[in-house]
Amino acid sequence: MTDLTSPPTDLRAAALAVRENAHAPYSNFKVGAALRTVDGAVFVGCNVENVAYPEGTCAEAGALAAMVASGARGVAEVYVVADSPDPVPPCGGCRQKLAEFAASDVMVTLATVAGETHITRVGDLLPGAFDAGHMARV
Ligand code: THU
Repeated sequence: MTDLTSPPTDLRAAALAVRENAHAPYSNFKVGAALRTVDGAVFVGCNVENVAYPEGTCAEAGALAAMVASGARGVAEVYVVADSPDPVPPCGGCRQKLAEFAASDVMVTLATVAGETHITRVGDLLPGAFDAGHMARV
């Protein structure tokens, strides 16, 4: 398990870099996400908005999609950054998406561009998550 006191600086750099590529003309709120897999690969994503607003996608979803598209699995660490007053919290949908691919003890660093961080875990972001076990009687 990763030390909760030491946010991963390489993931921060990757998240900050991909955030610059965000397509956010409607909210003007750019978000970058980077994740590392258990094999050490790093995948990044940014938010991609759409003029049909509900069709936009979040940075975390983009990073997870890149991982899946590459054939990789097993999220080991996640870093999310935005220019927010406080470290940016993933939306509800992204919490569910993270829980699909990351164990509940996986470290998630929420950050601001200015450098403030809040470190949490996937299980703490989505207590009581719906998972495959709830379909056991099907
Ligand atoms: N957004 C993300 O990409 N990730 C988050 O964790 C929070 C919100 C995006 C979605 C939308 O493009 C913009 O931020 C404003 O909600």
